[in-house]
Amino acid sequence: MRNKSDIANGRARLVTRRSFLGGVTASGLLLAGPAFWQQPARADAAPADQIHLQFGADPATDMTVSWVTATSVSRPRVVLGTASGGFGRVFEAETRSYVDQINGVETITQHARIRGLRPDTDYVYQVLSDGASPVAGTFRTAPVGRVPFRFTSFGDIGSGNPAWSKSSLNAITAAGQIEQFDPVVHLLNGDLSYANVNQANMPAVWADFANNTQPSAMNRPWMPALGNHEIEAGNGPLGYLSYQTRYTLPHNHSASFAGNWYKFQVGSVLFISLDNNDVVYANDGGAYLGTTNALYLLGYSNGEQEAWLEKTLREASHDPSVDWIIAYMHQPAMSSSSSGSGSDLGIRSTWMPLLYQYGVDLVLAGHDHDYERSYLVRGTDPGTFLRPSVVSTDTTEVDTSQGLVHIVLGGGGTSSHDDVYGPPDSATGPLPTSQIYTTFPQVFKAAANETEAATWSAVRDPDTTHPWGIGVFDVDPGRWPGDKTSITLTYYHTPAATASNLYPAPVVYDSVTFVRHRRDGFLHGDRAASGAAAGART
Ligand SMILES: [Fe+2]
Repeated sequence: MRNKSDIANGRARLVTRRSFLGGVTASGLLLAGPAFWQQPARADAAPADQIHLQFGADPATDMTVSWVTATSVSRPRVVLGTASGGFGRVFEAETRSYVDQINGVETITQHARIRGLRPDTDYVYQVLSDGASPVAGTFRTAPVGRVPFRFTSFGDIGSGNPAWSKSSLNAITAAGQIEQFDPVVHLLNGDLSYANVNQANMPAVWADFANNTQPSAMNRPWMPALGNHEIEAGNGPLGYLSYQTRYTLPHNHSASFAGNWYKFQVGSVLFISLDNNDVVYANDGGAYLGTTNALYLLGYSNGEQEAWLEKTLREASHDPSVDWIIAYMHQPAMSSSSSGSGSDLGIRSTWMPLLYQYGVDLVLAGHDHDYERSYLVRGTDPGTFLRPSVVSTDTTEVDTSQGLVHIVLGGGGTSSHDDVYGPPDSATGPLPTSQIYTTFPQVFKAAANETEAATWSAVRDPDTTHPWGIGVFDVDPGRWPGDKTSITLTYYHTPAATASNLYPAPVVYDSVTFVRHRRDGFLHGDRAASGAAAGART
């Protein structure tokens, strides 16, 4: 990870690169409108555009480079090298395309799967095809074993082009911040481009999103989760065709739903990306498709995702290399936002029993455009809508061997904010009330069915005009077998960006350290024996 001077240098580098990509100064961006969001025209074959990385099954050895070409190209490929050794190995790309069903625009994507890499190693690469100018990028493979590393997270970013609905300049800020903080990976908790609220221009909105993220996502993987705004009219049976065409994600071995949910491990942390559209009661996707409830995805996998999650968690419970399990998703199980969606019983009833049983440590979400962190919770209070029971109200050092913590990180950069919280509950004093969806089928944006006192809500960002921010997580693996390991979250609140100041300095708003014991010690090595019986890892 980098020190403060490195962060400052990273910011300067990003501004320079972005100015180059756009061909204009930052202040010219607004005046120019969407046209300036396209790559500069070139005289040769269609150049690479919208470049981004994804980890393969093993982040230490596998990386996929993906990009878009304006037309069909010959021999799309990535040439790989190292900074000291020059370029050498060539990886041919797979071409996949789809035609947007509303405006008929075809998007042609290229995906080069690179395998056999060395862990924790810097690589350089060139994206090219016959007759096209090469575009150079870099990446670093993930480390293995118990080593310190950093990851970042937020959802709900948007395209960064204010001309599109739900987008704001703060998406530019957000991409820059990721480069400043230099994580191994960024977890993108759903609602990516918001193309589906710009139906006449969905491919163009995706292009703006991907070109805004490219200066970061071509250097490090942004690993997404599906949000309600990835559901698009006409584009596939689930509306996911654009997402699925653009991304090549670790395989979940599903015959029908590859990429919708997946896992990967970096160091001692297992990351699990879940598709909450499969389980949420609140239907927040259908109305964007022109017909209310046109695509209500509740239960679409017919239990396949839940079975995969249970198998994944069970296997992890026997794996001594896994100290931490982090599930990330879009819609939150716990949110006291009153202007956003709030909590959803579908998530609570489907995922949460498994996440408690197998001792998941953190549950990251988005959807509500704000920041909120729960106390340490496990199990449910009797007589409630599966409201989690608070295990500890310690908000500085939290022992996740005793429960888990929910964190809403929905301030990636979209134009709307949900950081208005439910009014204080009369029975609990200053604690807010959470609205909660408890029945289905739900009608789009219908009022939540019930409310509850949010006894679980520990920290909220009350800035009701600036919802933006980023979660920065630093993993300390501990020093010896069985030692205490920790993950420190620093949440940076982000002021509003302007055309003349696209990179306002982030401000630390919240900090907390999560701790547990490593799994390789004598006392803490058998997660299955102690965890399954006790309902959690120890
Ligand atoms: Fe959402």
